[in-house]
Amino acid sequence: MPASPDPRDRLIVALDVHTVAEAEALVDRIGDAATFYKIGYRLAYEGGLALVPRLAAAGLKVFLDLKLHDIGNTVEDGVRALADLGPALITVHAYPQTMRAAVRARGTTGPKILAVTVLTSYDDADAAEAGYALPVAELVARRAAQAAEIGIDGIVCSAAEAAGVRRAIGSDRLIVTPGIRPAGSAAGDQKRVMTPGEAMAAGIDHVVVGRPILQAADPRAMAQAIVAEMR
Ligand code: C5P
Repeated sequence: MPASPDPRDRLIVALDVHTVAEAEALVDRIGDAATFYKIGYRLAYEGGLALVPRLAAAGLKVFLDLKLHDIGNTVEDGVRALADLGPALITVHAYPQTMRAAVRARGTTGPKILAVTVLTSYDDADAAEAGYALPVAELVARRAAQAAEIGIDGIVCSAAEAAGVRRAIGSDRLIVTPGIRPAGSAAGDQKRVMTPGEAMAAGIDHVVVGRPILQAADPRAMAQAIVAEMR
C-alpha cells in the first residue's frame, strides 16, 4: 500500500525511554512535528501498553514493536488483544505459522502486521549456529517472499536489505527501516546507516529514528528536519 500522503507519517519516532511519563513528555515536546511513534520491549514492559490507546485517541499512530512468536493459537490471541489497544502496526517474527496466525487475528480491520525476517544482529555464522543451512541474505529473501504470500502487510529490514525485500514483496506492501541517521549525526551502534533522503530514494515507506531525536537538544526541530529531508 502506498505510504500515506502526509510526509510526517513516514517518520516513526522510537520511544526508547524508560518510563511512560518520559514518553509522554517527549511526545508533548515534539508536538505536531511527528505523527507516528514506536513502542518496543523496554517501554511496553514498563507500562507503555497503556499509552497506545492514549496516543491513538490523540490522533497519533503507534507501531507496537513486540516481535511476537509462539504457537499459532497464542499469537492469534496476542494479536487480538494488542489490536484492541488501537496500534497501526504490530511486528511478528517471519515464521510461516506465526505470520498466518497474525494475519488471521488482524482480520480485515485490524492493525497492519509487519514481519521481521532475520534480526539484523545475525550474520551467516549466527544463522549457522542457530541451525539454519541458508546464508542470511537467502533466508531474508525466502521469508520476505513467504510473508507476501501469506498476506503480511510489510517487512521490517535494514536499509541494505530494502532493495532485495522490495523485489520479494512487490510494490503494495510496506518496508519499514531503522538505522536511519540524518546527515552529520552520530551512527551510534548502527553499522549500516542511511540518511532519511536516501531511504526515500531506496523505496522505503517508513523510517524508524530513535537516538538522533531522543538525544537532540531540540527533539522537535530534529523531527522537523528529518521530515523536511523526506519531502
Ligand atoms: O536509536 P536508533 O535510531 O538506532 O533506534 C532505532 C530503533 O529501531 C530502536 O528502537 C531499535 O531497537 C530498533 N531497531 C534497530 N535495528 C534493528 C531492528 C530494530 O535499530 N535491526
